[in-house]
Amino acid sequence: MAESSPDPRRRRRWWRSPATRVLAGVTTVAATAAVLVTAPGADAAASTLGAAAAQSGRYFGTAIAAGRLSNSAYTTIAAREFNMVTPENEMKPDATEPNQNQFNFSAGDQVYNWAVSHGSRVRGHTLAWHAQQPGWMQSMGGSALRSAMINHIQKVMAHYQGKLAYWDVVNEAFNEDGSRRSSNLQSTGNDWIEVAFRTARAADPSVKLCYNDYNIDNWSYGKTQGVYRMIQDFKSRGVPIDCVGLQAHFTGGSSVPGNFQQTISSFAALGVDVALTEVDVTNANTSQYSALTQACMNVARCVGITVWGVRDSDSWRSSESPLLFDGNGNKKAAYTSVLNALNAAGPGPTTTPTTPTTTPTGPTTTPTTPTTTPTTPGGGSCTATLSAGQSWGDRYNLNVSVSGASSWTVTMNVPSPERISATWNINATWPSSQVLIATPNGNGNNWGVTIMTNGNWTWPSVSCSTS
Ligand code: XIL
Repeated sequence: MAESSPDPRRRRRWWRSPATRVLAGVTTVAATAAVLVTAPGADAAASTLGAAAAQSGRYFGTAIAAGRLSNSAYTTIAAREFNMVTPENEMKPDATEPNQNQFNFSAGDQVYNWAVSHGSRVRGHTLAWHAQQPGWMQSMGGSALRSAMINHIQKVMAHYQGKLAYWDVVNEAFNEDGSRRSSNLQSTGNDWIEVAFRTARAADPSVKLCYNDYNIDNWSYGKTQGVYRMIQDFKSRGVPIDCVGLQAHFTGGSSVPGNFQQTISSFAALGVDVALTEVDVTNANTSQYSALTQACMNVARCVGITVWGVRDSDSWRSSESPLLFDGNGNKKAAYTSVLNALNAAGPGPTTTPTTPTTTPTGPTTTPTTPTTTPTTPGGGSCTATLSAGQSWGDRYNLNVSVSGASSWTVTMNVPSPERISATWNINATWPSSQVLIATPNGNGNNWGVTIMTNGNWTWPSVSCSTS
């Protein structure tokens, strides 16, 4: 029996991207810019990649190179289209610690500051990697290198503490057959990866910690299985890991495998976020671009897509013309195929398209009181108020509004077997799969979650505390 609530498809989209909200909030004279990216309501398609992805609670990002920030053709596209930024080289070990224990964050900060001033979040990339190590590190091994790695992670993460959405803690540590890649880091002991993750969690508990690699796209490939088993092992032993990045370089002879979605959903089923972190495709093949986008849209916990550069001329593999904009900054056919796939995903991450007309459109059990009040330890109080967002046959969105403090921590407990599949506008940590701890990420006090009901529509309980 369908309730007579308004058709959710007619409701206004409230979850505009951070970029959109920043523009809408500050733009008075350049009103057209806000108009371009503001979803006006009903089912209007978003006209930029970031806004289109934000409709389903996801982001669309790009790699940004500090050296190109003086190029206005580049920055115009980047600011307009993307709401996540990965520094292409500027936060790698050779950039941030050129001499042992002497840190240089100037280029990293340049990219970071540009990103946040354009309403974008930032993925840190990368802390521990066999490549792009400074010279002093390359010649190191054993316990000296282990200590240096720990120090590097601690110092770099301290600099960016509380500022980043994700960190690629470890990059490319596996061989093609699923064994560990030999490197000076691997030679310090097989536990180096978990040490890196434990160090990272302690250094900045607010950021999601990712393992990132290439050629882990095909589910039946040895390397994919090797990385999968490591994350499974980490999860079972409580080693902190929040996400896996599939670089998804479909260049240099590789292409999107037919089982790509299975790979994404298999990783997601381990309880980690999945992201496509460095996407490029030889000659920007439109069907491959739309297939990889669709695969991400089809998995609730695929949180976003990042392409590895803005224009073909910015690409590390520019001879393959693998990006969404040509060298003149024109949108390519692949751009449209990606935008359409993002728009088609519509509001709310989904595993399968559902028809909202015949299935329940809201909680079937009595919702718990929407306003939950809050603990008030220490010096202040805050309140987290829940209100209904859109709902579908298998999931619903909740809006959360926090009042009373600008520095707050909201703990949300989701009754089993419900699962939170997406969040907006918060830094999120997950003490368990049923518990979300939310803190501000600089985007204000209104945020949201998508909850997969798995048959249970009871709203979560929330409590708010100030620190
Ligand atoms: C690449 C950059 O794009 C180049 O500018 C640099 O010369 C080499 O590194 N996997 C990664 C990225 O994780 O950091 C790499 O980026 C591409 C492969």
